[in-house]
Amino acid sequence: MKPELDEPSGQHTTGHEWDGLKELNTPVPLVFRISLWLTIAVSVITWVLYPSWPGITGYVKGVTGYSSRDRIAEAVADRQILRLEQMPEFASLDVTELANDPTLEAKYSDAIAVLYRDNCSACHGRDLKGQTNFPNLTDDHWLWSGTPEEIEYTLQYGINHTSDDTRWAEMPAFGDGMLERPDIAAVVEYVLKISGSEHDTELANAGAVVFEENCASCHEAGGIGGMEIGAPSLVDDAWIYGGTRDVLTETLKHGRQGVMPGWSGRLTEEEIKKLTLYVLWAGEDGQD
Ligand code: HEC
Ligand code: HEC
Repeated sequence: MKPELDEPSGQHTTGHEWDGLKELNTPVPLVFRISLWLTIAVSVITWVLYPSWPGITGYVKGVTGYSSRDRIAEAVADRQILRLEQMPEFASLDVTELANDPTLEAKYSDAIAVLYRDNCSACHGRDLKGQTNFPNLTDDHWLWSGTPEEIEYTLQYGINHTSDDTRWAEMPAFGDGMLERPDIAAVVEYVLKISGSEHDTELANAGAVVFEENCASCHEAGGIGGMEIGAPSLVDDAWIYGGTRDVLTETLKHGRQGVMPGWSGRLTEEEIKKLTLYVLWAGEDGQD
């Protein structure tokens, strides 16, 4: 079909006809055409200046070499320099030296509290006193050791976590055939006894033998705890999981293996030092 002239409007038609209706071939308004060309121009300029097209081995970087990743990395580095400038001791001293400086707590405790809250309080509580399954960090009953280096190591590599250097601590499940039920019941009474709870004396005496044979290798004779392997003391009232008959039975039957994440790589060395000091300060503040 041929375009024809539409007399009244003086325009040509598109040449199509639908049931007698014809369409005028009016051009796209100028303003739309300009904006179309402008958008095309802007995108071409953007391709040239900024990263755009994906390729097989990478992407087209653009002449400015802009990268939002680099921008963030720079911003983070700036913040870190700023923070280090504010706490210069943490860049130069090791944790033992830091722990020997009595002036630091008053100066930095509030600032480090923010770091603690962001990373640790979900498990150990805002007041560091822990909760069921998560140990209290303010008492002096350590699973491992309470020296600055040992705490720093725990923070770096965690406990039962993914790093090759993580601390390994497993309370075996004695209910899987390692101990008969009556022996479990007896040793539970013994643990109640040594932790100062109400217990059945006769059963507890039988349990003492079971304990020496099965538990003392990790928890030490009398249940005072073995820090080399993170086996908690059973003679104090600081429980991770609980010291009632029911919970103790549960612990013995099914075992326990708490996970403390390692922070190396996620926090900087300085941040780990700060948190190590924060944990030490909380212990010194004497909340039993
Ligand atoms: C996902 C929960 C979780 C988070 C988050 C967490 N922890 Fe832990 N943490 C644990 C558990 C569970 C244990 C005990 C592991 C065990 O039972 O053997 C532990 C143990 C510890 C210990 C060893 C205590 C001892 O008696 O030797 C220290 C110190 C510690 N955490 C500090 C921290 C700090 C500081 C942070 C923040 C950077 C943190 N934790 C974050 C779960 C957590
Ligand atoms: C191979 C070493 C090992 C042996 C053997 C062992 N334990 Fe444990 N036990 C641990 C470790 C490590 C933990 C801490 C686990 C954790 O927190 O994830 C633990 C935790 C516990 C707890 C929990 C304490 C709390 O604070 O809630 C109790 C109770 C306990 N053991 C009792 C016993 C008794 C009783 C026996 C003997 C029948 C025994 N254990 C044998 C290593 C051992």
